[in-house]
Amino acid sequence: MKDAFGAPQSLLVLGGTSEIALATARRLIALRTRTVWLAGRPSPALDEAAAELRGRGAQVRTVAFDALDCAGHEDALGKVFAEGDVDVVLMAFGIQGDQARDEEDPQAAARVAQTNYTGAVSAGLVCAGALQAQGHGSLVVLSSVAGERARRADFIYGSSKAGLDAFAQGLGDALQGTGVQVMVVRPGFVRTRATAGLPEQPLATTPQAVAAAIVTGLRRRSETVWVPGSLRVVMSALRHVPRPLFRRLPV
Ligand SMILES: NC(=O)c1ccc[n+]([C@@H]2O[C@H](COP(=O)([O-])OP(=O)(O)OC[C@H]3O[C@@H](n4cnc5c(N)ncnc54)[C@H](OP(=O)(O)O)[C@@H]3O)[C@@H](O)[C@H]2O)c1
Repeated sequence: MKDAFGAPQSLLVLGGTSEIALATARRLIALRTRTVWLAGRPSPALDEAAAELRGRGAQVRTVAFDALDCAGHEDALGKVFAEGDVDVVLMAFGIQGDQARDEEDPQAAARVAQTNYTGAVSAGLVCAGALQAQGHGSLVVLSSVAGERARRADFIYGSSKAGLDAFAQGLGDALQGTGVQVMVVRPGFVRTRATAGLPEQPLATTPQAVAAAIVTGLRRRSETVWVPGSLRVVMSALRHVPRPLFRRLPV
C-alpha cells in the first residue's frame, strides 16, 4: 500500500535492466519505495541492477521473466504477487529492432511485434488481474511517440507501440472504478542504449526526465504522460499533416 504521504511502497519492473525503468526505480526508492522486484531475462546485468538498487536501501529481488514466453507469464508474475501487494507495475521491456534489417527478415520483424505487443498484452493482463484482485495499484506502460503515427524510418517498432498503446488505453478504461490505474507513458527519443547510434531526434530527452514524469504522473493519477510534455502539442499537429507531406518531414 502507498504510505501516509502517497508514495508507493512496492514496485515491480518488467524489463528489469531497462535504463528508463532503473532511473524510475532510483527515484521511487529516494521517495521511500522499499520493495522492488526486477523481472527480466536472467543475466549479470539484471543481478548488477538489483545490487545497485539494494545499495540505495531497497529490498530487491529478481524474477525470471521473458516477454516472449507468454505461457510462463502467469507463473513468473504470480510468484511476485503471492509475496505481497505491489503498488506500481512498470512495464518497461521492449526492443527497438533494426528497421532496415527487419524489413528483409520477417521473423526478426515478428520478434519486435511479439516482444513489444503480444508479450505486453499477456503480461499486462496478468498484472491487471493481480492488481484488481488486491484492489489497488498502478500499471505504468512505456509506450512511445513512435506509436502515434507510422514513420518510414521505424514503422515496425512504431506499429508494435501503436498496438501496445491502444491496448493500454482500453485496459485503463476496462479498469475504471476498480481502484487500479493504467498510465500510458509516451516518451520521444530517449538517450539510452536502445537508441545508441541512432540519429538523435528533436526534443530528445533522458531516462531521468522520463522517470521524473512517471513519478509526477503517478502522484496525479494521470492517464497519459508525454515526455517531454511539449510532444503532446507537437504530435496533435503532426497527426493531421497529410501523408505526402508527412513523408517528407525530417521526423
Ligand atoms: N529509449 C527510447 O528512446 C524510448 C522511447 C520511447 C519508448 N521507449 C520504450 O521504453 C522501454 C524501455 O526502454 P529503454 O530505453 O529503457 O531500453 P533498454 O534499456 O534497452 O531496456 C529494454 C528492456 O527490455 C528488456 N527486454 C527485451 N526483450 C525482452 C524479453 N523478450 N523479455 C524480457 N525483457 C526483455 C531488456 O532486457 P535484457 O537486459 O534481457 O535485454 C531491457 O530490460 C521500452 O519499451 C522502449 O520501447 C524507449
